Amino acid sequence: MKKYYYAYEERYKKIHKEGLLWFSKKPTPELIDWVEYFNIPLGNEICEVGCGEGRDALYLATQGYEITAVDISEEAIRKCKELAEERKVKVNWVVSDALYLREKIKRQFNWIYSVGTLHILVENEDRKKFLKTLYSLLKPKGKLLLISMGDGETERATDTKIAFELQERNHMWSEKTFRVASTS
Ligand SMILES: C[S@@+](CC[C@H](N)C(=O)[O-])C[C@H]1O[C@@H](n2cnc3c(N)ncnc32)[C@H](O)[C@@H]1O
Repeated sequence: MKKYYYAYEERYKKIHKEGLLWFSKKPTPELIDWVEYFNIPLGNEICEVGCGEGRDALYLATQGYEITAVDISEEAIRKCKELAEERKVKVNWVVSDALYLREKIKRQFNWIYSVGTLHILVENEDRKKFLKTLYSLLKPKGKLLLISMGDGETERATDTKIAFELQERNHMWSEKTFRVASTS
């Protein structure tokens, strides 16, 4: 979907031009718990969908996992490659719209995770397609960790008419503000 591509591509370009990252470099605590809970053996292959600037993929690759990490944004993946080179780790980076990922990745995985990406998709149809794609990427008995925004109680719907309009957002790690598409 072009709209998701532009929303994040433009955001990352603006932020990276300033020498900043949009997200932190710290891995997601729940992901670390998940890996520990299933005691995923080092060397296993894990797939991430919606990797952003790669904080989780880079962390797991540094630990010794084989990571395939996907994002729709070319700029995000360019930054991921730069950071991977700095940290001297190898990751299989893939630029793809998750909704059409099966056209690019034909095989299946035992382990898949996705952090903060489901809620970015503003249309219910897209969310369904996203979930179906992740499911089809899983091997039988494979495990999926899906982390999304929300408190699990309050139900909210995105106003899709204004979802891609630019809004002023504070950058979390600097004093700066940026005009970015809000998405959900
Ligand atoms: C909120 S960010 C989370 C990034 C990362 N998981 C993290 O937690 O740091 C959502 C990411 O999903 C990506 N994304 C949005 N729509 C996508 C799609 N249709 N296919 C693949 N990635 C998508 C965006 O480019 C963005 O990097």
